[in-house]
Amino acid sequence: MNFKSIKFNRSNIEIIDQRLLPKKIKKRKIKNSDGAYAAIKKMMVRGAPLIGITAAFGFYLALKNRDSKFSLMDYMQKVKNKIISARPTAYNIESAMNSIYKVFLLNKEDLSLNELKDKVYKEAVNIYQEDVKKCKNIGIYMNKYIGDGYNILTHCNAGALATSQYGTALSGIYIAGERNKKIHVWVDETRPWLQGARLTAWELKKNSISSTLIVDSAAGSLIKKGIIDMIIVGADRIAANGDVANKIGTYQLSVLAKEHDIPFFVAAPTTTIDYSLKSGSDIEIEERGDNEIKYINGDIITLEDQNCYNPVFDVTPYKNITEIISERGKEKFNEKAG
Ligand code: MRU
Repeated sequence: MNFKSIKFNRSNIEIIDQRLLPKKIKKRKIKNSDGAYAAIKKMMVRGAPLIGITAAFGFYLALKNRDSKFSLMDYMQKVKNKIISARPTAYNIESAMNSIYKVFLLNKEDLSLNELKDKVYKEAVNIYQEDVKKCKNIGIYMNKYIGDGYNILTHCNAGALATSQYGTALSGIYIAGERNKKIHVWVDETRPWLQGARLTAWELKKNSISSTLIVDSAAGSLIKKGIIDMIIVGADRIAANGDVANKIGTYQLSVLAKEHDIPFFVAAPTTTIDYSLKSGSDIEIEERGDNEIKYINGDIITLEDQNCYNPVFDVTPYKNITEIISERGKEKFNEKAG
């Protein structure tokens, strides 16, 4: 990868403010848990694995900034709950918080405050490093399904910018590129945040993968014309029956794939699978403000008082998915369990 989505040390984390890409590469330093919460909530960082990693370092920074163990348990529990509430659909925030909170709980009595800080920092680093390995392995498995000369459609940004490195949906594409397969990526612009137009297009170019940007509503006609060989998307939360929540617009692509008999792949690490939820209908779908739809770059594009509805994820049923690929390879789910 030619860039790093996140850098960290014991005092702060450094992120790229993804709201400004590709016009500006602005790096921001975050020194406390409120900063991490705000960066996630305001979409400076986004993408399920990356917000999980940012959440883990946010938890560490909250602990690092304490100078006594007084009311520590109470305080850290509040920090954990607040960070989890920043974005409700992406399960990676919860899985990262669960791992790091467990380390905190197990060690809070026996270790000194400084030793505890060290232990929790190492767990945040571990969450990052594990994500690097997981994403790389997803790519190695995904690559097996990518033929030389393939035209691949992707939605939103499930690349290096959305994870520690490599990405999930884009990881297989990067590995295929490294192995000299000729591939072309069709990038859905992804209204309203334009993660496809702004982020996927940017990182594919940085990694020398050829791409074409389309408006979201062009996908159907391209698929009908037989241009697309396969679709690969990421995931924000996968229920125990294999239903997948991902960026709004994913579901309709899965229906198109089924209708036109092309493979529809979901690539996600196991940290995105929430076995506590029976099916996709149990997944909370984040809704964001009307202004995200009403304005583009500060200019209003509709009526001032226009009614809007802005769910930012949808759920694709497992039956529409060809395979879900994690770092373990093909994931098997019991569709009927839901
Ligand atoms: O709202 P975003 O930009 O956080 O949504 C991101 C997605 O929907 C991604 O597809 C998903 O998080 C997987 S990222 C590897």
